[in-house]
Amino acid sequence: MIEDRMRDELQALLAPHGQDHLLAFWEGLSPAQREALAAEIRSIDFSQIAALYDKRDVVENVRDLVARAGSPRAFRLDAARNPFSPDEARQRGADALAAGQIGVILVAGGQATRLGFDHPKGMFPIAPVSGKSLFQIHIEKIVAAGKRYGARIPLYLMTSPATHEETVAFLERHDRFGLAEEDLHVFCQAAMPAVDAASGKVLLHAPDRLALSPDGHGGTLAALRSSGGLEDARRRGLAQLFYLQVDNPLVDVAGPEFVGYHLLAESELSTQVIAKRDPLERVGNVVEVDGRLHVVEYVEYNGLPDEIARRRNSDGSLAIWAGSIAVHVFDVAFLERMADRADALPFHVARKKVAHVDSRGTHIQPAETNAIKFERFIFDLLPWAARAIVVEVDPARAFAPLKNAPGKKTDTPETVRAQMAAEHAGWLRRAGIEVADDVAVEISPLLALDADELAKKITPGSPVTKPTYFC
Ligand code: UTP
Repeated sequence: MIEDRMRDELQALLAPHGQDHLLAFWEGLSPAQREALAAEIRSIDFSQIAALYDKRDVVENVRDLVARAGSPRAFRLDAARNPFSPDEARQRGADALAAGQIGVILVAGGQATRLGFDHPKGMFPIAPVSGKSLFQIHIEKIVAAGKRYGARIPLYLMTSPATHEETVAFLERHDRFGLAEEDLHVFCQAAMPAVDAASGKVLLHAPDRLALSPDGHGGTLAALRSSGGLEDARRRGLAQLFYLQVDNPLVDVAGPEFVGYHLLAESELSTQVIAKRDPLERVGNVVEVDGRLHVVEYVEYNGLPDEIARRRNSDGSLAIWAGSIAVHVFDVAFLERMADRADALPFHVARKKVAHVDSRGTHIQPAETNAIKFERFIFDLLPWAARAIVVEVDPARAFAPLKNAPGKKTDTPETVRAQMAAEHAGWLRRAGIEVADDVAVEISPLLALDADELAKKITPGSPVTKPTYFC
């Protein structure tokens, strides 16, 4: 029987790694369920999982790294001491955009667990007046920038098995929010199984399904390459890729100033930071060690110990001040070089609560951490990059990540909407239009991408006293 042969094949794959419990419910599964389980099992490299589990307690020695760390070379907001002015940078970036050398990577494979939204996070209706989704906001910025610079700006959009189908259907339903079909390349990142923390055994989510989750935003590199995205970028003559995460609607997507600094500095990887407002702020810390940039996570992720995070310089400023907001520009040749190196992006260990079925088929919803997940982080490319630079942005204007469910303290739909409305009210005021306090306003990216563009398109008029969407 074909199905017996399938079982034998899977058994031979699993037994050497002590993972044959994954077939415990095989006899009770339908042919379709068996096929699905077999496909998931075949997609896993079990020797890799065993090696990662064996090394689970080898924590990176953050103290060692941080003891030698200095502040990164940075292009600060107060541009007085920067080697290039914002105007020079904007001009250089605009030239590259007009020459069609810039593409965008948008990563949207995460599971949005904290937000508690039942769809891909990119579908969340975040805009303060129009209710546009995160996807629509990001894509309209790309479409508007393409018009402004008279060039095509292709989008490489990363999904995961958890978000792929719904994302593709959503974008199709909305005609890709105006982006040409040939300028959208959707690619799906790989998944990694969660293992039981005590035994290293892969957990079953259901009798016919492994407990899989996306392999971290660092999965972008391998998936971009294996999906043909890197080749596509090369074929189109793209030299740089602007990277952002789906959860921050304030990103100046493909913004010429950031792209310009990256090009003027001949950097292989540039990253935006904010000056941390609180030493323990939950952002990755960008540090420089032996002439290379690194991101050290916050303490919950085996990251920067509190006492080091709190250190101050003699003038009272934070010694480790630069918080990553996960907006980068990558040199395409650098990505190609890194995609050839298996060791470029290590897996990190995250201890989590993972629901699963036990050996008797009982569904377990753990109250305590029970499992280990393995994830790669895209910022681990930083130390590999030549002439990497850090560019400071104003958090009020550039960083409003949607992470948490309504009603929580920070990074909620309410706080993100308020920040968007405040930013757009500022643009209107600069254009000579008064906006009453606490009135939500929103400007469509298709009308203006920044305050200067808005000022050219709108004439000063009567004050805004009720929620208004400018489009
Ligand atoms: P987060 O780590 O904040 O995850 O991802 P999340 O999915 O938004 O939310 P939680 O942690 O489940 O609550 C930051 C960004 O990286 C992307 C996410 O889609 C988000 O844009 N990401 C994360 C991926 O694309 N793939 C991953 O495997 C992880």
